[in-house]
Amino acid sequence: MRLDKYVADVLGVTRSEARTLIRKGKIFADGAPVTEPGVKAETFSEITSSGERLDREEFIYIMMNKPSGVVSATEDSRDKTVLELLPDNLRRRGLFPAGRLDKDSEGFLLLTNDGQLAHNVLSPKKKVGKKYFVDLACPLEQNKIDILEKGVDIGGYTTQPCKVELIGDLSAYITITEGKFHQVKRMFEAIGNRVLYLKRVSFAGLELDEGLLPGEYRQLCTKEITKILRTIQ
Ligand code: URA
Repeated sequence: MRLDKYVADVLGVTRSEARTLIRKGKIFADGAPVTEPGVKAETFSEITSSGERLDREEFIYIMMNKPSGVVSATEDSRDKTVLELLPDNLRRRGLFPAGRLDKDSEGFLLLTNDGQLAHNVLSPKKKVGKKYFVDLACPLEQNKIDILEKGVDIGGYTTQPCKVELIGDLSAYITITEGKFHQVKRMFEAIGNRVLYLKRVSFAGLELDEGLLPGEYRQLCTKEITKILRTIQ
């Protein structure tokens, strides 16, 4: 990989800003300033700037609080995508959403370029937990909760057992371990109710960071990545 791309990725600056830093002699490779932006970064064992090592992680893991109105896709001819909420230096890293939230849904969406981890968190065999907050059109009675928890027919498919926690008359948390298309909405429809608002509050053992407003995101720390890895072991 070219040094300017490497520096841009690690420092989160544009390629042209990276080239300026390199030409000004601000980037050191194996102890000496390197001023040619096109050299291969892999040929050096250590790249530094102001004495700090610039280490480029191969995989990136981002927790996004997906806002309503954008689609969980990498590109779309009609709608704005979650990728468009990220800056260029992250968009260039081959990120994609691990799973899907509907266009009108909000909450925790994991974006990564780690195909193996994404495959595992989405695999039905791994039974990764996903917890949703829902606002409902009609009150949710205990007998309906019991039906939902055992599994309901959502049109040719009976859902796996799940957990429902009532919060008020018209709101609840529901935790499922699968991810069929529109699953939560279809589950509530199956018991004669309707989801008016849906937000994923937890995914693969991690809670959505309450500090993230809709549309905001942050990278996961090592501890959080380890926690996800534990849920898919
Ligand atoms: N279930 C749904 O119905 N919609 C979502 O966005 C996620 C789960």
